[in-house]
Amino acid sequence: MEILDLRHFSSHDLRPLLEEESRVWADRLSWDYSSSAEMVLRYLDSKILPGYAAVERGQIFGYSFFVYEGNKGVIGDLFVANGSRLSAPHEVEAQLLTHVIETLQQSPGIHRVEAQLLVQEAGVISQPFLQQGFSRHPRIFMTLPLPANLSPAELAPEIEIRPWAETYYQSAAAVITAAYRGHVDSTINDQYRTLSGALRFLNNIVRFPGCGVFDAPSSWVAVHRFTRHLIGVALCSRVRHDVGHMTQVCVLPEFRSRGIGEALLAASAENLRARNFSAVTLTVTEANHRAVELYRRMGFQPGRIFEAFVWEG
Ligand SMILES: CC(C)(COP(=O)(O)OP(=O)(O)OC[C@H]1O[C@@H](n2cnc3c(N)ncnc32)[C@H](O)[C@@H]1OP(=O)(O)O)[C@@H](O)C(=O)NCCC(=O)NCCS
Repeated sequence: MEILDLRHFSSHDLRPLLEEESRVWADRLSWDYSSSAEMVLRYLDSKILPGYAAVERGQIFGYSFFVYEGNKGVIGDLFVANGSRLSAPHEVEAQLLTHVIETLQQSPGIHRVEAQLLVQEAGVISQPFLQQGFSRHPRIFMTLPLPANLSPAELAPEIEIRPWAETYYQSAAAVITAAYRGHVDSTINDQYRTLSGALRFLNNIVRFPGCGVFDAPSSWVAVHRFTRHLIGVALCSRVRHDVGHMTQVCVLPEFRSRGIGEALLAASAENLRARNFSAVTLTVTEANHRAVELYRRMGFQPGRIFEAFVWEG
């Protein structure tokens, strides 16, 4: 087995592996990975996708890629075919990750590396990260089957839940920045720490496909009627024809514990139910106990535990 630069290959070489990966995403996360796979293949053919391939007799059976975002490297994906020849899959995963991590840590100007690998079960791929000085943050994948039995408490009359609109862009970024100040999730994702970062996050979620396709009708905001200020946001993307995934839920600290988070989530779930979706999913950091508790109470069922890793050099 050899580990080679991904840029030596074309979409023709990687397509069979991505087809297998799409089946794994569908089984484990109810996620239609095909549009993400097509995007990876397009980047591969443009020879602009940095990463590594595990190759045996000319055939790719594992790969990992990363992207540069300013002075940060983000590990985009890691996948090794299950029935891979010769080597144990987890050993190949470790070798690919070691190459990716070393490349990123040695890249001039890169001071931070983030990774969230959803299809890998917690513990399985931790070693190469921990050996290179990364911190580890367990996260939970949760699913709410629809229709769900939701009964959110009535909100105070000055709070209104409204459908998402593009005009909320700037104020949503401000809510995200304030909601995640000092929060474990801004350790995991540094975009939450600044207004410009939160705008980049929103841009990725709302305007680019990748984390599913943004679904405006199931995305909601909470607005204070008198001040007209935005105080909470719930954003949802379609990750399968009948599955929504909450990409963001947050409420300003001074408005918490008044049922706004629950009302936003219930509005998303209700819209998806009315459109015959079968489930809504989300991911939450295990240490974010209040959010985990809220989701459990609403009927979200905990599924796979995966890990986020962060390195700051
Ligand atoms: C998670 C988060 C969105 C929850 O929002 P919220 O508006 O506080 O949530 P809710 O008020 O609906 O429910 C949470 C609490 O309010 C209580 N509550 C619900 N309705 C209520 C009402 N009408 N009156 C008083 N309390 C109420 C709930 O029992 C729950 O109890 P707790 O305060 O002891 O935890 C919010 O804490 C947040 O923005 N956190 C930071 C960002 C984050 O972690 N997002 C989730 C990432 S996965």
